[in-house]
Amino acid sequence: MHEANRNPELALLPATAAGSDSAAGLARRLGLPLLASGSSPLDCDTHDALLIVDGRALRLQRTGRGAPGPVAVDFGSAAMRHRRHAGARELLGRAVGQGGKKMLRVLDATAGLGTDAFVLADQGSEVVLCEREPVIAELLRSGLQVAAGSGDPWLINVSQRMSLCPGDARALAPGHLQGVDVIYLDPMFPPRRKSAAVRKEMALFHSLLAHAIDPQDADALLLWALRQDVARVVVKRPAKAPCLAAREPSHTISGKAVRYDVYVHRKLP
Ligand SMILES: C[S@@+](CC[C@H](N)C(=O)[O-])C[C@H]1O[C@@H](n2cnc3c(N)ncnc32)[C@H](O)[C@@H]1O
Repeated sequence: MHEANRNPELALLPATAAGSDSAAGLARRLGLPLLASGSSPLDCDTHDALLIVDGRALRLQRTGRGAPGPVAVDFGSAAMRHRRHAGARELLGRAVGQGGKKMLRVLDATAGLGTDAFVLADQGSEVVLCEREPVIAELLRSGLQVAAGSGDPWLINVSQRMSLCPGDARALAPGHLQGVDVIYLDPMFPPRRKSAAVRKEMALFHSLLAHAIDPQDADALLLWALRQDVARVVVKRPAKAPCLAAREPSHTISGKAVRYDVYVHRKLP
């Protein structure tokens, strides 16, 4: 099997001995082996990647010498602050329909590392984040906890508008869908062969999910979303990709590399 299509072997590593108890609890929840604190990711040859527990913070680190940097959900990072002023966030906000009088409630049914959800929450929406891959859901949980405890009023304020629902969006309890105005979908798509866009660290995120890339699964997710009682469904797609489930959107908002397909059911409140 190609390396990218293999689910990486993971283990959990407490960064310090003091964190061993909480790491043991998380290892049990995720069904991952627990390494002794003090082990070095550089020298580890028993696992492909380690989930490192460092107080509230969690990061995913590929093992071995020369491995790229870790993957973590860090809403306060320079990259996230930069996105506050990037043009792409305007496209996303327009696609979702932000800018009216009412604070929108958005279900991000494919939350991933929470970047889009954070942008939407920063723009004033309340966002429910659904993520079905348990390790990624834990990265999100830790990112939200770190933001809440950061002491930065902006980060605390934005993170208070975000709530995490681990699991498959289609299995959400009806209560979580109540009051949702928009369902947002950004399903995985197979990386383009020549793409330089996928940073090295993100290759680990992608390999965690490689087994789950199934175009029919994304089609089914759109069809599920279209059956829900919401004002609109928004789907992020590569600029030239076909529409999900061959369903033509009501309209499209296009950027250079991506476009947003917008399926309107009714006017936003
Ligand atoms: C491309 S990533 C989303 C990236 C995200 N928009 C961001 O800004 O970080 C897609 C994510 O959706 C998740 N996913 C796919 N189908 C799902 C479903 N039915 N329910 C919940 N999560 C799902 C995958 O596990 C993956 O983490």
